[in-house]
Amino acid sequence: MKKNIIAGNWKMNNGLTETIELIAALKPLVKDAEAEVAVCVPFTDLAVAKKALKGSKIKLGAQNIHWADKGAFTGEISGAMLKELKVDYVIIGHSERRQYFGETDATVNARLKAALKYDIKPIVCVGETLAEREAGKVEEVLIRQTEGAFADIDKASLKNIVVAYEPVWAIGTGKTATSDEANDTIAIIRKKIQKLYGSPVAKALRIQYGGSMNAKNAKELMAKEQIDGGLIGGASLKAVDFSQVVNYNA
Ligand code: 13P
Repeated sequence: MKKNIIAGNWKMNNGLTETIELIAALKPLVKDAEAEVAVCVPFTDLAVAKKALKGSKIKLGAQNIHWADKGAFTGEISGAMLKELKVDYVIIGHSERRQYFGETDATVNARLKAALKYDIKPIVCVGETLAEREAGKVEEVLIRQTEGAFADIDKASLKNIVVAYEPVWAIGTGKTATSDEANDTIAIIRKKIQKLYGSPVAKALRIQYGGSMNAKNAKELMAKEQIDGGLIGGASLKAVDFSQVVNYNA
């Protein structure tokens, strides 16, 4: 049985004090969660977050990883550095990286390989923009992004990978994909994975939905066959809000 995974993406929010406070507030609220829970924090918070998470099952995630082991890449963070911090997960190819920082399918692929090399579980983000949806290009875009991300990734690695479907138009906008829309679109990604790796691998792959997911819509989204969790932005910044998403079934 695969376990749902609900991860908070804090983005560029929360300094050290806020990190300690938020994690302290969150721990008791999600201690009985059925789903796997993770918080993906800014690089500067990782060490403090790791310490604060002690005694809980909440996993720690970073928000990016560089593809090189080390070297002259000012401002970047390597897999070895993340491993030393005992990071469990890393978000790769978030649409904000694609939109503002020149992330491409090829760099997503390179980062994915680095995460696997360092035994850090990647959360690979894909999703179409509003213009692409309106132009009827959802399938084309998702297939391109999925093929690009998974180029030369072997079948055995798939069990360690999570995919997040995040329609760009639903991120931070309060506009959620309907549960049917999310379900049908995730089915496209899963079908592509099935073509690449076969049916058992595709079925076992956890695919999250992300984009204005909150306490109100989590239950309906999570009830969908294709949806195996959530990647939560805004609603992950408050302990109670995030815990209500995590405990969507309670
Ligand atoms: P919001 O939940 O704020 O829409 O953000 C979603 C997201 O981008 C998570 O990675």
